[in-house]
Amino acid sequence: MIIYIVNASPALTPCLESALLKLGNEVHAEIVSNNSDLVLLFNEQGKPDLLVIDDTLLTADASDMLRTVFDGDEDCSFPVIVLFDLFNPNVFAAAYRLGIHDVILTSADPERFFNKIRNLVFVHQKIIHLENTIENLNKKMSSMQYEDILGMCRMAEARDGFLGGHLDRVGHYSAKIAKNMGIGDHECMMFNCASKLHDIGKVGIPDHILNKPGKLTQEEFETVKTHSVRGFEIVRGCQQNVLLDQAKEVILYHHESWDGSGYPYGLRGDEIPPLARIVKVVDVFDALMSKRAYKEPWDFDTAVDYLRKNCNVQFEPAIVDIFLGLVSKSDFD
Ligand SMILES: [Fe+2]
Ligand SMILES: [Fe+2]
Repeated sequence: MIIYIVNASPALTPCLESALLKLGNEVHAEIVSNNSDLVLLFNEQGKPDLLVIDDTLLTADASDMLRTVFDGDEDCSFPVIVLFDLFNPNVFAAAYRLGIHDVILTSADPERFFNKIRNLVFVHQKIIHLENTIENLNKKMSSMQYEDILGMCRMAEARDGFLGGHLDRVGHYSAKIAKNMGIGDHECMMFNCASKLHDIGKVGIPDHILNKPGKLTQEEFETVKTHSVRGFEIVRGCQQNVLLDQAKEVILYHHESWDGSGYPYGLRGDEIPPLARIVKVVDVFDALMSKRAYKEPWDFDTAVDYLRKNCNVQFEPAIVDIFLGLVSKSDFD
């Protein structure tokens, strides 16, 4: 158990000293004498299991200090006790309003103070344990759901005539572009997985259309185009998390075009969600470089030319620039 104590006077109050003695090896206490040292302690060592503040420090800069302590942590995930010399209901009420969990008089019976610390920390540790359990459970459920969905995508990929690697290359380059655009590491990691789900709707397109060697009729092409909305319907009801939220965006919009000529909604420019704009570039490039039922693979330079010529038409120019700065010919051999 880690306790941070802010104590203005050189000596600890007898009730605090006695409680710490009683806690013995159970506790590691860091004692500082002012609010700025406390902020330093938070920055260097993170959050404690309990914070004890001397009431003399609850002065003008206390609100600032507490704001720093509670920063990004609206419910304050650790308990805070304030030590008071004198009983004053108004001051006590003000302390509670600042977000403090409990107050105690320095003249309090040490045994009572000790029990108060034990109870607050016990409840705090139980909450942390519960939060971790729920988080692990959510992660487990998400990854099971993701593996199931990815399995369906690999089936669709195989039926679509790709010889393999398409989904992995789309995931790899989409995440790299996102990182280059300043998207955070965790989101990029999720995006590597989410972008692989872009064509999940193709599980609902008949084989004779997906594998047709020649040109598709208009009617057949209209059927293929339904895979964006079909795919979205498949994942629409899935549990909400970063990965599946990204996937929903990518699945539904990865065939929209920068100039508004795409499908299913004919969105243009910034109306198209950014992650879908990224997948669009990588997906088309990889399809050009792949052998399909109806075409031979393009060579690298011709595919690069195609991307350049279609900037402002199908693709967002900035994304094409980033992709062409990252793409490695050997990945497509
Ligand atoms: Fe697609
Ligand atoms: Fe694709």
